[in-house]
Amino acid sequence: MSTVDMAKIVSLSKRRGFVFPSSEVYGGLGSTWDYGPLGVELKNNVKRAWWRANVYDRDDMEGLDGAILMNRLVWKYSGHEATFSDPLVDCRECKGRFRADKTGEIDCPKHKNRKVAGCSANLTEPRAFNLMFKTNVGPVEEDAALAYLRPETAQSMFVNFQNVVNTRWRKIPFGIAQVGKAFRNEIVPGNFTFRTREFEQMEIEFFCKPGTDDDWHKQWIESRYNWYLSLGMRAENIRHYVQQSDELAHYAKACTDLQYRFFPEREDEEKQWDELEGIANRTDFDLKMHSKGKSEHNGVEYVNEHATERLTYFDQEAKERYVPYVIEPSAGADRATLAFLMDAYSEKLGKDGDARVVLRLHPHLAPIKVAVMPLARNKPAIVEVAHKIKQDLQKSGIRAVYDDTGAIGRLYARQDEIGTPYCVTVDYDTLGEGKDGDASGKDTVTVRDRDTWEQIRLPIEGLKAYFLEKLS
Ligand code: GAP
Repeated sequence: MSTVDMAKIVSLSKRRGFVFPSSEVYGGLGSTWDYGPLGVELKNNVKRAWWRANVYDRDDMEGLDGAILMNRLVWKYSGHEATFSDPLVDCRECKGRFRADKTGEIDCPKHKNRKVAGCSANLTEPRAFNLMFKTNVGPVEEDAALAYLRPETAQSMFVNFQNVVNTRWRKIPFGIAQVGKAFRNEIVPGNFTFRTREFEQMEIEFFCKPGTDDDWHKQWIESRYNWYLSLGMRAENIRHYVQQSDELAHYAKACTDLQYRFFPEREDEEKQWDELEGIANRTDFDLKMHSKGKSEHNGVEYVNEHATERLTYFDQEAKERYVPYVIEPSAGADRATLAFLMDAYSEKLGKDGDARVVLRLHPHLAPIKVAVMPLARNKPAIVEVAHKIKQDLQKSGIRAVYDDTGAIGRLYARQDEIGTPYCVTVDYDTLGEGKDGDASGKDTVTVRDRDTWEQIRLPIEGLKAYFLEKLS
């Protein structure tokens, strides 16, 4: 089954408060987005699930939250100042600026139904455009105060390698995990939150002994693929893509991307897929680049005149010192959130014959787990019980909301559309005031399932245990 056209996701996101265009009241700012009330919950759940699987559920990982602003020298020695660029061309006619390697895919802004490459335009020779955003640290705008907004979270994990080893008594192999913002002045951002200039990454730098790196690379590719499946992503919409040698970043020995079918509407099947996460074998490049003095990598000698130490590891048992290799699973939090949204989208015929949207999000990712509703919002005793159930569930750590903003049928439809797995309805039976004086339903409520639309009757006192089990 294919995924949904992204246009439907953009519309649902705006309509139901997942994602809004940023600074919309001032006309927006190209390709920047704000996560709304449900979007922030969904994205936080994605990040939490990632952290739980990669830090808490393993014994070989530590967490980190590095600064966005780092010493400029980090980016000099990482190679970003010299090489983190895309080829840019200007059009002398329309003054547009385009990525030189994408002119065959980008629509010409001046000539309808033409791509930039196919238009009569007069393009300049490609030149390198560095993607790092510049800023100044302190009140003086001079070269010495220049800093960059980090274009990846990875580097703070490399430069903190020794700190983590020393403070956490870590032995190789182990990894560092980090979730945080990154910034790239992309020449062509777009496709909703797929490519933006400000985004969030979920990255791991896993340090291992040279010679064991190929095996660890394989293990991480499998582990990361299975993580997406464990959260309900459909296997037919995610695939492996092994990068060819001419596609590899300068630091990588090998890289396998996990691609998602982000663009099902494209005719060419191959173009439907794009990168969700990259899992690279970065070798010992980064630790060597940030090490004081001379280092050699792939037959080239590098000298670091500024670092204060050498980032090496001493194996106490083997009495051997070496520079660890690094396996880097690097995922985008925004792209993962978008992929989970697309994958969960479904339409189902309601009783009225109309197509209704049901977002079949995995319960761990759903922004709201349980919505509690009163059948009659003008009956204080029913409202009171509904509020109490909501509060009790929330106290047990189950994200619950109280909702009385419409008739029950409409409320169910709205909760389906935002992916809430369960609805609880409090009615006259709950008060022991059923039809013809029937009191047998006292202290019970209706529980409705999002995916099957089935309804069952449960005692209020059993709700917490029921949902904890269902949502675990
Ligand atoms: N440290 C390695 C690194 O940054 P990358 O492939 O450039 O590798 C990793 O980025 C992930 O970050 C991508 O797979 C993607 O999910 C996300 N990402 C990269 N650029 C992005 C952008 N402009 N907008 C949204 N997500 C982006």
